[in-house]
Amino acid sequence: MKKSLTLFMILLMVSMGGYTQEFDSLAQTPPMGWNSWNKFGCDVSEELIREMADAMVESGMKDAGYEYVVIDDCWQIERDEEGNIVADPERFPSGMKALADYIHSKGLKFGIYSCAGSKTCQGRPGSRGHEFQDARQYAQWGVDYLKYDWCYNEGQKAEAAYSTMSDALRASGRPIVFSLCEWGDNEPWEWARDIGHLWRTTHDIRDCFDCKINWGGVGVLQILDQQVGLARYAGPGHWNDPDMLEIGNGGMTETEYKSHFSLWAMLAAPLMAGNDLRNMDASTTEILTNKEVIAVNQDPLGRQGIKYLDMGAHEVWVKLLENDELAVCFLNREDEPWEMDYDWQRITLYHGGRAVGFDDPWFTMKDLWKHEVIGTTRERLTETIPGHGVLMLRLTPEKQ
Ligand code: GLA
Repeated sequence: MKKSLTLFMILLMVSMGGYTQEFDSLAQTPPMGWNSWNKFGCDVSEELIREMADAMVESGMKDAGYEYVVIDDCWQIERDEEGNIVADPERFPSGMKALADYIHSKGLKFGIYSCAGSKTCQGRPGSRGHEFQDARQYAQWGVDYLKYDWCYNEGQKAEAAYSTMSDALRASGRPIVFSLCEWGDNEPWEWARDIGHLWRTTHDIRDCFDCKINWGGVGVLQILDQQVGLARYAGPGHWNDPDMLEIGNGGMTETEYKSHFSLWAMLAAPLMAGNDLRNMDASTTEILTNKEVIAVNQDPLGRQGIKYLDMGAHEVWVKLLENDELAVCFLNREDEPWEMDYDWQRITLYHGGRAVGFDDPWFTMKDLWKHEVIGTTRERLTETIPGHGVLMLRLTPEKQ
C-alpha cells in the first residue's frame, strides 16, 4: 500500500514536472492571435468565434503567424451547484469543448478569459477561490491560452493572486499560455517573469493615435511612452504587453495604423488583432499580414526595442535581431511631415551592452512597408515621413 502510494506520488511529481516544463517553454516569441474585446465587447457567441476562426484562415492571417483565437469577457454566466463555471447557454449552445475542437480543427489555438477577482470587469463570475477548479475545466475543454484580469480584486496582493492561477494552470495537465491583465498597476514586469508569459503594462488601449485627453484609456503614443525602460524585462517566454491592436477598427488613419503595427513589432509586443477579421479592407489586411514587420516582432532573439533617440517630436527606435541584423523605426509624432536627414556614420549605438556602429560593417537598408532596399548606411538617409508616420527599416550587415 505504502509502496504504491510512493509510486503514485513519484508519477504525479514527474507528470507535474513535465507540465511545468511545457508551461515554461511556451511563448518563445510574442503570442499572435485575435481577441474579441476591442471590437465586440460583450457581444460574443460561438457563431462569432467560429466565423473569426474561419476568417483567420481565409484572410491569410494564419499564414502570417496568427494562432490564438481568444474570447474575452462575457462568455461565462454563472457557477453551478458544484461551483463549476458555466458558459452562457444561449450564446454558446454547443459548449466550450465543441468550440475548442472546432478551432483546433482549423490548426488554430483556443483562448479564454477570466479574472483574479470575485467578478470579471463586466460583472461575470471571476475565478477567485475557484482557481484550480477553473484551470482543470479549461484543460478539459482544450483551452490553450488564458487572459486573466484584475477587476473586483478586493485588495488581494497581485503577485499572490496571479501565482495561484499560475500554479493551477501548471497543475491542470495542459500547457496553457498565461496572460496577466493587471494593467501595470503593480509593476508586474518586476515579478511576473516566472508566473506567466505576458503581462499588460498599461490601462486599456483606445482606437486613437494621440489621445491627449485620457478618458479611461490611452492611445498609441501614450502607451508607447509608458514602455520606455521596460525592454530589459522581456525575452523568450516572458513579454511586456502594451495591449491589443486596434488596426481596422476605424479610429485612426492608414498611416497611423501602420505606425501602431510597426511600433508594436519593435516592442516585441504580443500581436493580438482586435478587429472584425471577416470583412477587412485591403489596407487592414496588408498591415496585419505584413510578414516583414511581423518577422521583426517574432525574431528569435526576443529582444524588445528601445527608444534610441528622443528629439521631441521625432524618435528613433532600435531592436536587435539575430545574425547581427537590426530593425530601426523612425517615428514622427507630430502632424507635420518630417524632412528627415540622417547620417549613419556619426552614430554608434549602445544596446544590450554592445556597441554597434553602422560603418563596420556597413548595412543595407530595407524599407519594410515599401518592401524595397533603399540604400546602405554609406549614404545619408533622406526621407519625408508623414505626420504620425514611421519609416521602418531592417538593416542587414553587408557581406565583407
Ligand atoms: C479590462 C481589460 C480589457 C478587457 C475588459 C473586459 O478592462 O483590461 O482588456 O478584457 O476588461 O471586461
